[in-house]
Amino acid sequence: MRRLLFAANWKMHLGPADAQAYMDVFLRSFQPAPDRDVWFFPPAVSLATVAARLNGRNDLLAGAQDVHWEPKGAFTGAISVPLAAQAGARAALIGHSERRHVFGESDADTARKVRAVQEGGLVPVLCVGEKLAERESGATLAVVQRQLAAALDGQDGTRLDRIVIAYEPVWAIGTGRNATPQDAAAVHREIRRWLGQRGAKAARILYGGSVNLKNIAELVAEPELDGVLVGGASLDPVGWTQLVSVAAS
Ligand code: PGA
Repeated sequence: MRRLLFAANWKMHLGPADAQAYMDVFLRSFQPAPDRDVWFFPPAVSLATVAARLNGRNDLLAGAQDVHWEPKGAFTGAISVPLAAQAGARAALIGHSERRHVFGESDADTARKVRAVQEGGLVPVLCVGEKLAERESGATLAVVQRQLAAALDGQDGTRLDRIVIAYEPVWAIGTGRNATPQDAAAVHREIRRWLGQRGAKAARILYGGSVNLKNIAELVAEPELDGVLVGGASLDPVGWTQLVSVAAS
C-alpha cells in the first residue's frame, strides 16, 4: 500500500501563537489513517510549538524549512541541524526553490545541507524543479538530474531510501498553475529511475506547486505521486485537514 505524505510548508507565516491555534484546530479534526503521514514545516520560531503538540507521533511530525550545514558557529540568522533537532524537528526541507532562486543557494550548498541533515539523524526533503524557460526549452529532465546529482553525489541506496524528494516546478509554485498529474508523473518516473540506478527502492517522491483542495484528488490518483508539498493551501487549518483527508485511490 502506498503511504501518502502530505507536507505543509508554511514559509514565512504563522508565528508561535498562530501555530498553537492552528494545531488546536487541526488536531481536533484530523482523523489518523494507516495510509498517510502529515508533516509540518513551520518557520523556525514556531518549530518547538508545533513539535511539542505532535508529541512524538509517527504519522505527524515537524521539520525545519532550511538548515545550515555547520553544526554550530558564527552564522547569524541561520539554524543548524542540532538546533532544529533540539526544537523537535525530525526532517528538513533542503533546496526549496525560494532558497535557490531568492536566496541564491547553490547546488553545492544543497549537497552540504543534505549530508548535515543525514548526519544529524533527520530526514532530508530535497526539493528539485525547473524554471519556466527551462521547461519551455525542453531542459526539465536535465535540470532535475543535475540537481539530484549535485545534492546526492556518492550516496548509496540505503541512504537514498531514507530521503524524500519533492518535485516542485518553479513555474507552478504560488502561481495557481499546477503541473498536470501526467506532467508530474513523467518527471517522477525519471527521478525514480535515477534513484533506482543507485540502488534506492523506497524513496518517496512528492509533487509541489499550487496544490489545493480542487486538484488534490486528481494529483494523488496518479500512482507515481507519493504525496504533495503544499504552501498556500496549508495555511488554513480547516482547509488543510480536508486536503490531507482526500481519498487515495
Ligand atoms: P504553493 O507552494 O503550494 O503555494 O504553490 C509550494 C511550495 O513552495 O512548497
